[in-house]
Amino acid sequence: MVLRLVEVTKTLGTQHVLEGVNLEVAPRERLCIVGRSGAGKSVLLRLILGLSKPDSGEIWYGETNLVPLRDRELAPLRREMGMVFQNGALFDFMNVEDNVAFALRERRRPETEIREKVARILERLFLKGHEKKMPAELSGGMRKRVALARAIISRPKLIFYDEPTAGLDPIGSTEITDLIRCLNEEFGATTIVVTHDMRSVEQIAQQVAFLHAGRIYQACSAEEFLSSKDRVVNAFVHGLVEEATVGAG
Ligand SMILES: Nc1ncnc2c1ncn2[C@@H]1O[C@H](COP(=O)(O)OP(=O)(O)O)[C@@H](O)[C@H]1O
Ligand SMILES: [Mg+2]
Repeated sequence: MVLRLVEVTKTLGTQHVLEGVNLEVAPRERLCIVGRSGAGKSVLLRLILGLSKPDSGEIWYGETNLVPLRDRELAPLRREMGMVFQNGALFDFMNVEDNVAFALRERRRPETEIREKVARILERLFLKGHEKKMPAELSGGMRKRVALARAIISRPKLIFYDEPTAGLDPIGSTEITDLIRCLNEEFGATTIVVTHDMRSVEQIAQQVAFLHAGRIYQACSAEEFLSSKDRVVNAFVHGLVEEATVGAG
C-alpha cells in the first residue's frame, strides 16, 4: 500500500469531523473519496498532506507514519506529493509559465531543464500559446489545467485533486476528468480525487471510498459503489437527500 490510514480522528471546534477513518490506497490506483458537502473530505486531504495533524490515528506513507513527523522531516516526503486545490490556488501575480515552473524553481533545477519541461507539460495540457497570460485572463477550465500542470510537473508519486470539476460545465468537466485519467495512466502516480460529483466518479474512479458520518462507510470498486443496493450509498449516489441522512451518526 502506498497510503494507509488507521483510525484517524479529527475534531474541529466542537464538531467530530472524522471519527476513525481507515483507508488503504494501492500504488498507481485511481481512488475517489466521495461524501456529501461538509463530510470532511477536504479536512482528510489536509491531514494526509500534513497541513494539519489528526487528534489520533496513523497515516502511513509507504513505511513511514507521517503523524509524528515534524515539518522538516515531512518536507522531503511532501515533495513526492502533488496537490490540486479546490480553487486552483494559482499565483495571481505570475503568468502561466511561471506558475507551472514554480515547483522546479523552488528545487533549483537548471533553467534550461525547467523551460523544456514547462513547454512539454503546457503542450500536453493544451495550453500552448497561453504561456504569458495571467491567471485573471484564463477561463475556468484553463485555470484548472494550469493547476494540473503545476502539480504534475515535478512528477509526484501521489497526487491529490480536491473537487477538480467544481464550477465547470459538463464539457469542461469531462475535459478535466479525461486528463486526470490519462495523466494517471501516463505517469503512474497514485491518484486520489475528492469529489461529490457522481459523473466524476464514473469517469475517473477505479476504487471509491465513501466518507459518511466521520468514517469510511464503504470502500469498494467504482462499479460496486455505483450499483450498490445499500440504502445509504444508494441514496448518496442518486442524490436522495432525505434518505441519505437516515443512518447517519
Ligand atoms: N478550520 C476549521 N475550523 C472549524 N471547522 C472546520 C474547519 N475546517 C472544516 N471545518 C468543518 O469540518 C467539516 C468538514 O469540512 P470539509 O472537510 O471542508 O468538508 P467537505 O467534505 O465538503 O470537503 C465542515 O462541517 C466544516 O465546517
Ligand atoms: Mg471540500
